[in-house]
Amino acid sequence: MINWEELKHIHVIRKLEEILAQWFNTEIFFVDERGNVRNYDPLDRQREFRNPLCAMLLPKEKGRELLMKALGSANEKVYRIEKPHVVVEGPLGVESVLVSRIVVDNEFLGSVYAYCFIEKTLSTEARTKAKALLQGIGMDHDWFDAAVAKLRVPTDAEKKYLAELVDLVAQEIVTFHTEISKREERISALNSQLGNRYSYHSMIGKSKPMQEMYSLLDKIRNSESTVLVQGENGTGKELIARAIHYNSPRKDAQFVTVNCSAFNENLLDSELFGHVKGSFTGAIRDKKGLFEVADKGTLFLDEIGDMSPTMQVKLLRVIQEGTLIPVGGTEQRKVDVRVVAATNKDLKEMIEMGTFREDLYYRINVINLVVPPLRDRKEDIPILIEHFLTRGCKEKGVPLKVLAKRAMEKIFDYPWPGNIRELENEMERLIVLTGDDDRVPADLLSQRIRDHGEHAKVQGVRVAGKLKDALEELEKTMIREGLRRTNWNKSRLAKELGISRAGLIMKVEKYGLDKRKVMRGAGEAA
Ligand SMILES: Nc1ncnc2c1ncn2[C@@H]1O[C@H](COP(=O)(O)OP(=O)(O)OP(=O)(O)O)[C@@H](O)[C@H]1O
Ligand SMILES: [Mg+2]
Repeated sequence: MINWEELKHIHVIRKLEEILAQWFNTEIFFVDERGNVRNYDPLDRQREFRNPLCAMLLPKEKGRELLMKALGSANEKVYRIEKPHVVVEGPLGVESVLVSRIVVDNEFLGSVYAYCFIEKTLSTEARTKAKALLQGIGMDHDWFDAAVAKLRVPTDAEKKYLAELVDLVAQEIVTFHTEISKREERISALNSQLGNRYSYHSMIGKSKPMQEMYSLLDKIRNSESTVLVQGENGTGKELIARAIHYNSPRKDAQFVTVNCSAFNENLLDSELFGHVKGSFTGAIRDKKGLFEVADKGTLFLDEIGDMSPTMQVKLLRVIQEGTLIPVGGTEQRKVDVRVVAATNKDLKEMIEMGTFREDLYYRINVINLVVPPLRDRKEDIPILIEHFLTRGCKEKGVPLKVLAKRAMEKIFDYPWPGNIRELENEMERLIVLTGDDDRVPADLLSQRIRDHGEHAKVQGVRVAGKLKDALEELEKTMIREGLRRTNWNKSRLAKELGISRAGLIMKVEKYGLDKRKVMRGAGEAA
């Protein structure tokens, strides 16, 4: 169907209407395929009509009815003809109307109606007939002769122009319509090809890595397997864990989160598996563990890399056997829980160091999701900013804000080590600092973002002395900065630097860059 509303804004069509009004004193009406007039609003009292009959008829109810009825039957006049247009008699029986049809792909979609002109000077008889008609519907007609005098009497050559112009209006409508539908088809085709989405549950992002994440999440919707979500701090691991649960057949049961690093070993034990009364000081009654709370639902084990070896053994047993024994208890209890675990640690490396159990790793890592850091999907930054600003401004009841161009540039250049959480906090902060202004200037940005890039070039690379020393110094700097940036994820850093992990570990030792030393020296090194 044609988007009639949009036609108002098409410059060519408006121009054509103007020309027709100026040269032929005609008014152009669009009639849709069901006979409704689409470009005339009876309530619009401001509209002025160039055509003298319209000017007299349309403001009056009776006159409006008469003309609208004629327009409503315009389609019948052109529906079956072979030619693009036809000249027909108007509702007063004395005036002529040119009607062009709108046809798209052999489908009739309406007409363009040019009202009106006269073929030759009217005879007294014709005038009397028209006035009688007006009187018959209860309208006065003392204006009639003056109005008719203002109508155009085009010559044959002029009539040809008139027809060409009205056909052109119809043609423009067809062109506009086909272009729009082609464009819409193209967009929806592209969209379905890419599975393009701007969001998934409460996750925002349209970049390729996020699209891949969404389609993976779709694929595992009905899976019961355990999932390991890996990613740096603040990349949205918990959000993904929730999306997994609320998309799964378990969505009506509970989603329970446990932060494994927030408890010491004993507390985590009782937190996860529950305890029976009297099993330790303070255990004054039986307590259900979170595994039981999450029965039939999903248990989200956050920071699983922080779990002690003993707890890892217990967890492995529950996952493998689906049964647990509460602290201090003797009876086994059955639970039906899907486990989703998350970590920002390099579990592979922990396995090598002997701090994470390999068998547990393979148990939880049935489905592996790696969340891309924000610096690898910078094209998501604008929609994330818009999302956080809209939400924050609404919460605070302040007018919506936009970032100044320079502020946006600075934000793009910044590597976002704290990821989405850092961006989210920055937006919160800016909303407060900007106050009632609606534009956020660059100088309100946090200093680290504002200053980034101003002196980020490699500093102090030697230009004299031995090449080997200079290279080693550069290598050391790159590794030290890389370790910090990746949060000591050596597998990733090795990949980034294009060396083997073993090679990287050797270099870390050679330069004394293990975590504790670097953290201690953070002040001087920075
Ligand atoms: N794709 C996203 N779209 C919108 N908001 C997001 C997105 N990803 C994360 N967030 C928001 O960023 C914040 C951090 O997300 P979340 O807590 O899920 O990250 P995390 O990886 O679990 O972080 P941490 O490692 O610190 O535990 C949350 O406030 C979350 O709502
Ligand atoms: Mg988290």
